[in-house]
Amino acid sequence: MTKFAIVTGESKGLGEGIATLFLESGVSVIGISRSENHQLPVIAEKNNQLYKHFRCDLSDPNEVQNTFNNMKDFIASEKELTNVFLVNNAAAVKPINQAMNIKSEDLVRHVQINMVAPMLLTNLFLNEANAMDVPAIAVMVTSGAAERPIYGWSAYCSTKASMNMYTKTVALEQEELETGNKVIAFNPGVMDTEMQETIRSSTKEQFSDVERYQDLKENSQLNPPKTVASVLIDILNDEDVGNGKVYNVKNYL
Ligand SMILES: NC(=O)c1ccc[n+]([C@@H]2O[C@H](COP(=O)([O-])OP(=O)(O)OC[C@H]3O[C@@H](n4cnc5c(N)ncnc54)[C@H](OP(=O)(O)O)[C@@H]3O)[C@@H](O)[C@H]2O)c1
Repeated sequence: MTKFAIVTGESKGLGEGIATLFLESGVSVIGISRSENHQLPVIAEKNNQLYKHFRCDLSDPNEVQNTFNNMKDFIASEKELTNVFLVNNAAAVKPINQAMNIKSEDLVRHVQINMVAPMLLTNLFLNEANAMDVPAIAVMVTSGAAERPIYGWSAYCSTKASMNMYTKTVALEQEELETGNKVIAFNPGVMDTEMQETIRSSTKEQFSDVERYQDLKENSQLNPPKTVASVLIDILNDEDVGNGKVYNVKNYL
C-alpha cells in the first residue's frame, strides 16, 4: 500500500511542515520548489517513505508541464498506489504596492505562480488520477485575503480569490462526473514564515496596514507553520473531506 503526496513549495514555511507530517504519517512525498530542503530526505528515511524533490520555477508554465510529466512517470512506477494528494501550497505575496504602480512583468509572474501553476497542476493531476483509477484529493492553499480587500495587495487578493472559485467549480465537476475525487481550499491564517517577513518589510505607502503585521510578529500572534500543517493533515485523514469546501484553520486552532 503506497500513498503519495505532491507538495509545492516544500522547501520552507508551511510546505515544509506539510511535507514533514505527510512523511511522518506514512505518505511518500514529491516536492516542487526552486530550492532544496535538506531535512526532508532524512525524515523520509527515518519513516521508511520516499521523498523526491523536483526543481521547478512555477512562474514558467512549460516547466510546470514538464515537471508534471517527470513526476507522473515516477508515481506510476509505484505499485499498489492507494491514494494520491496534491497540495498547491507555493505562492508569492509580491508585488505589494498600489495597483496603479505595479509593473506588468511583476503582475504576470505573480499570476503565473499563484493562479496558473496551481490550476494547471490540479487539472493534470485529476486527469492522471482518473487514468490510474486512484482516489485523489487536491488542496488549494488560500488566504483570508481571498475574501477581503487589503490596500496594496490587489494581485494577492485576486489570485487567492481565484483559488476559492476554482476549488468550488472543479469540485462541482468532479461531483457530477462521479469521479470520487475531491478538491478543497485551506486558509492557514497568519504564520511565522518568510512570507510574513516580506510583508513586514513593505513601506507604508505600498501597504498602509504594515504596522499591524509588524505588531503580529512582535506580539507573537503568528502561528508556527508546523502547527497549521497538522490541521490540514488531520482534515485529509478524515474520510469525510468536504468536496468544494473552503476550510479555515481558525475553526481548528
Ligand atoms: N504566511 C502567512 O501568514 C500566510 C497567510 C495566509 C496564507 N498563506 C499561504 O500559505 C502558503 C505558504 O506560505 P508560506 O508563508 O509558507 O510562504 P513562504 O515561507 O514564502 O514559502 C513559499 C514556498 O513557495 C515556494 N515558491 C515561491 N515561489 C516559487 C516559484 N516561483 N517556483 C516554485 N516554488 C516557489 C518557495 O520555494 P522556493 O523559494 O524554494 O522556490 C517556498 O517553499 C502560500 O500559499 C501562502 O499564500 C500564508
